Amino acid sequence: MPPKAMSSIRSNVIFMVLVISTVSLILAFVINGVFEVKQQKSTLASQAKSFADIIGFSASTNLLFGDPVSENARLTTLEIDKNIENIHIYRINEENGKVEFFASYNKVNTPPIPTKINKLKELSDVTYSDNYLELIRGINFEGNEIGYIYVRFSLAQLKEQLYSTLYLKLLVLLISLGIALVLALRLQNSLTKPIKELVEVFKYVSKEKDYSVRAPKQSLIELNALSTSFNTMLDRIQAYLEKQAEAEKQIRKLNQSLEDKVGQRTDALKDANVELMSTLETLHQYQNQLVETEKMASLGDMVAGIAHEVNTPIGLGVTASTLLMDRIKDIREVLDNKKLTAGHLDRFLTEGHENLNIIYRNLNRAAELISSFKQVAVDQSSENDRVFLLSEFLKDVLLSLRPKLKHHEHIINVECDEKLTIESKPGPLNQIFINLIMNSVIHGFEFIEKGTITISMEATGNRLKILYRDNGKGVNEQLRKKIFDPFVTTKRGEGGSGLGMHLVYNLVTQALGGNITVASEEGKGIEFDISIPVNVKKVVV
Ligand SMILES: Nc1ncnc2c1ncn2[C@@H]1O[C@H](COP(=O)(O)OP(=O)(O)OP(=O)(O)O)[C@@H](O)[C@H]1O
Ligand SMILES: [Mg+2]
Repeated sequence: MPPKAMSSIRSNVIFMVLVISTVSLILAFVINGVFEVKQQKSTLASQAKSFADIIGFSASTNLLFGDPVSENARLTTLEIDKNIENIHIYRINEENGKVEFFASYNKVNTPPIPTKINKLKELSDVTYSDNYLELIRGINFEGNEIGYIYVRFSLAQLKEQLYSTLYLKLLVLLISLGIALVLALRLQNSLTKPIKELVEVFKYVSKEKDYSVRAPKQSLIELNALSTSFNTMLDRIQAYLEKQAEAEKQIRKLNQSLEDKVGQRTDALKDANVELMSTLETLHQYQNQLVETEKMASLGDMVAGIAHEVNTPIGLGVTASTLLMDRIKDIREVLDNKKLTAGHLDRFLTEGHENLNIIYRNLNRAAELISSFKQVAVDQSSENDRVFLLSEFLKDVLLSLRPKLKHHEHIINVECDEKLTIESKPGPLNQIFINLIMNSVIHGFEFIEKGTITISMEATGNRLKILYRDNGKGVNEQLRKKIFDPFVTTKRGEGGSGLGMHLVYNLVTQALGGNITVASEEGKGIEFDISIPVNVKKVVV
């Protein structure tokens, strides 16, 4: 939609007032003029009729006596009336009934006009033409029509009169328009002045943002309503702003108190922190003490374990050696009494051999146990790092295990980059693999002829990730949780001491500085996830 053209109230008011007054005045004048002309004409017509009748009546005597000369002379007296232009008197011939010209009158300087005998009927009513009025009336004497009178009146005087009133009216029209213009100016002034006043107030408020001013009271009802509404709006804005200012003041106050509180709390926190630090220090000391105590406790556990484990073979050895000592004492007695027979000697030798066998086996077992305790206890980190090819290293480990694996059909898959060279401690790694593989063979594949072990090794960054899994019988939740604890075994008395996984855990976490986790589900194998820091060498040896 195109924008509306702007216009001022002033020009609109003046335009409207002038248009309305001009149109209404012109309309009034036109209507008045038309009526006036009509009225004048009808007055003139009735005047003309009575005039014609009077002259006709006066002419009747001369008509009866047939004296046109006297009639002409009489008609000359009508000169006084400037409106009469021409008069004709016609006589009806008594003998033939024909209408004949009788007498006439023509105003000075007005030429005579042709007879109107043939227009008797046509002009029987008043007929107007541009500048004159015509009329024919009958002349009667004692009830008989004896002739006709034709009268022609000039309309010049009437026109003159009408024009003079027209000028007067035009003058009145102009004066009225002038008055209307003055009134319009006053009206627009009385309208625009208060509007201007209001606009000034609006401008001031919007520019200065001073909401305390008020628009003045207006004498015009509509403008006063506008000014009152504007003032109400200002009241509300002012109240709102005051409320807002109050709220801001409150917020500032709150902020300040909050800041104070934060400051207080910070100070309190600082104090608490200092206290905490000292507590932490004390705790550290306690922790170190606790670690020491824990170490002592595990050492105690260890010693108890060792005592318990070693006690059995030593006990058996002691029993067997006591038995052997009894047998020696018996044979000595028989020998001293010179009662020694071949039978005695044979029995002694057999029993002696059996007992010595028992002693030998149990001493061996004790020695084995002590050797594994030693492995657990020894500080594995003391070994130096070496650079070696991981795949080759694992092949050697498997080779060393061949004697123990050759009676089974188990498959061992190694997934490792052939060229992966690392710098680490091969000793602990060797022991880790041996323990894991032997556990899979002894425990995992206890009732399985052909088990599968998969060892995947991968170096990411400076860490070696070893994923060891077998598809054996696995362990239950309870055993899984304590599998790395010492002396946890399901093969007690069957050659298991429960130190293998404990050793693996110690080697991974302490000797190699890595970590190990176990995952297993009964019947679905076991999986060890080992991660150790190593130096990965890109050089292929
Ligand atoms: N691969 C495996 N599959 C199933 N069970 C396992 C596996 N490895 C370990 N276990 C269970 O965990 C227990 C603890 O193992 P750990 O190696 O510590 O002791 P052990 O093998 O019994 O004795 P040791 O290793 O001292 O001769 C085992 O007795 C066995 O029940
Ligand atoms: Mg073991």
